[in-house]
Amino acid sequence: MRRPMVAGNWKMHGTRASVAELTEGLRNLALPSGVEVAVFPPALFINQVIDGLADKGIIVGAQNSAVQPEQGALTGEVAPEQLVEAGCKLVLIGHSERRQIIGETDQVLNRKFAAAQAKGLKPVLCIGETLEEREAGKTLEVVGRQLSSIIEAFGVKAFANAVIAYEPVWAIGTGLTATPQQAQDVHAAIRGQLAAEDAEVAAKVQLLYGGSVKAANAAELFGMPDIDGGLIGGASLNADEFGAICRAAGN
Ligand code: 13P
Repeated sequence: MRRPMVAGNWKMHGTRASVAELTEGLRNLALPSGVEVAVFPPALFINQVIDGLADKGIIVGAQNSAVQPEQGALTGEVAPEQLVEAGCKLVLIGHSERRQIIGETDQVLNRKFAAAQAKGLKPVLCIGETLEEREAGKTLEVVGRQLSSIIEAFGVKAFANAVIAYEPVWAIGTGLTATPQQAQDVHAAIRGQLAAEDAEVAAKVQLLYGGSVKAANAAELFGMPDIDGGLIGGASLNADEFGAICRAAGN
């Protein structure tokens, strides 16, 4: 009943020329019809990518958005209202690089989550533990706390219009992928935590796995019962590799 989703997070990569090339590669892909495919370019290139992907059916999202829904005096930020006008449908909230390098807290992320939903921009909430936390046996506690932050602020029904991405920090950009069973265990716990509050919301929400996903390991990960697709970093910068990952989600 859940449609798989494969989303490419381009992070802070790209130039006008490389983005044009990647967009052209995406246009030429044969994509499986049952899979929602999305890309998250740097904000500077969102318009270019939306123009380049016209009619392709690939969803475009933003990697970040402001704590307030509307445009205003907030230097350096982009408002959900502006992203929606540009044609964005999704926004990443709480990627570990923003939590760790920029210092975004659960309080700030709650405001971003709500501001996005207020304008109809669907948040993709990113959660995940560090290696230190995993080795201390704290994975479910950390992920549970990141999820609770939203549930306590807005109620579990906020996830009727959101996506969750589980991205263990130790697997991001390292080549270390969680095993399908490790990822499934955390995904089952996430869905269980939501189900304890609302079974319907839990059954419907798409749970993506992220962390060194590539064409060679995607099918095995996506074959797990609670893994509904992936959030892809490095491998999404190559259109053919990304297309192969999308096809793995369609099988
Ligand atoms: P990699 O696929 O490069 O490990 O990155 C994952 C990620 O952070 C996606 O948001």
